[in-house]
Amino acid sequence: MYRIAAIGGDGIGPEIVAEGKKVLEAAGEKHGFDIQWTDFDIGADRYLAEKKLLTDDDLAELKTFKAIYFGAIGDERVKPGILEKGILLALRFHFDLYVNLRPIRLLEGVETPLANKGPKDIDFVVVRENTEDFYVGIGSRFKKHQKTELDVVRDLYHVKFCLDVKTDADELAYQIGVITREGAARVQEYAFDLAMQRKKKLTSVDKANVLSDVYGLWRDVFLDTAKRYPEVHTEFNFVDAVTMWFVKNPEWFDVVVTPNMFGDIITDLGAMIQGGLGLAPGGNINPKGTSMFEPIHGSAPKYRGQGVANPIATIWAGSLLLDHLGEHEAAAAVVKAIEQSIRDGVVTRDLGGSAGTAKAGSYIAECIKKK
Ligand code: IPM
Ligand code: MN
Repeated sequence: MYRIAAIGGDGIGPEIVAEGKKVLEAAGEKHGFDIQWTDFDIGADRYLAEKKLLTDDDLAELKTFKAIYFGAIGDERVKPGILEKGILLALRFHFDLYVNLRPIRLLEGVETPLANKGPKDIDFVVVRENTEDFYVGIGSRFKKHQKTELDVVRDLYHVKFCLDVKTDADELAYQIGVITREGAARVQEYAFDLAMQRKKKLTSVDKANVLSDVYGLWRDVFLDTAKRYPEVHTEFNFVDAVTMWFVKNPEWFDVVVTPNMFGDIITDLGAMIQGGLGLAPGGNINPKGTSMFEPIHGSAPKYRGQGVANPIATIWAGSLLLDHLGEHEAAAAVVKAIEQSIRDGVVTRDLGGSAGTAKAGSYIAECIKKK
């Protein structure tokens, strides 16, 4: 029996997680395991009612689970950034979920906006670093002149900033990206190991030509790590070029490893070439601890409660969750069943079908049971 935590969250989150649970239960029935769910009331509603984002009690309890099944966070009643940083990023950082695994795969029967490309061309995995870079939260905004951290930096390093903040019109902000040798090495190792199981080809993404400190270190670590994997063919791509090649030659890629922020950006592009955000899953993984699985898309508040959201991204994330539990056959069966539902046209309207969220989810669950 597996104990799994579920956080539906905001917007369409609860609806799509409900479908994911159905499907994972069906996979359990078929493949001989039970799942016991524990639901957590975390998200905008609780925040608005009780001013609580993630409490120490939440974290202590969540830690007792091997996996968290996560819907989405984000609500129009709350200023952007509060829930995202206070819940989603807080979970990624607290549990040190340093691998953000995002498969970009065009399933049979799904349309891609890329002309003349098919499922054989679009099948790669992005391994996004998930705990460093510009996501570390070091930064400040300055209005009026005041003795601040900025002055300390200025005094320490004798830097002259182009603006001296004396009035609101001079307002200034800065934010710092951090890459550590250990942080880069551990996620790159994960990517190399994955490349060894796939086509032994790994592309590293950076912008070492401009942000040469942070991404220079990323690159140095990559070169060091590569020495331990002589069988893996490696390449560097600048992030701007990667966006071009994802569109022009997606078949070049197999495993892609990237710092956090570039990974955020290029996986939205990846989601589009695999047929849309409604299809793109993600895993936030700490190979040794509690990990969290979620769709890449957000909470889409305007579709809340309408039963129209595509549950596939979440169901596919459920397949990644099963992989994390070691239930590889069941995980593969979930993706097969998703493909079956697409072939049979029992899909939501974003994929050209007429099924609602629950019908699309139930159909996938049925496909697993019938196999
Ligand atoms: C994602 C999201 C998050 C991110 C936001 C909601 C904090 O865009 O999972 O890609 O930037 O990582
Ligand atoms: Mn994103």
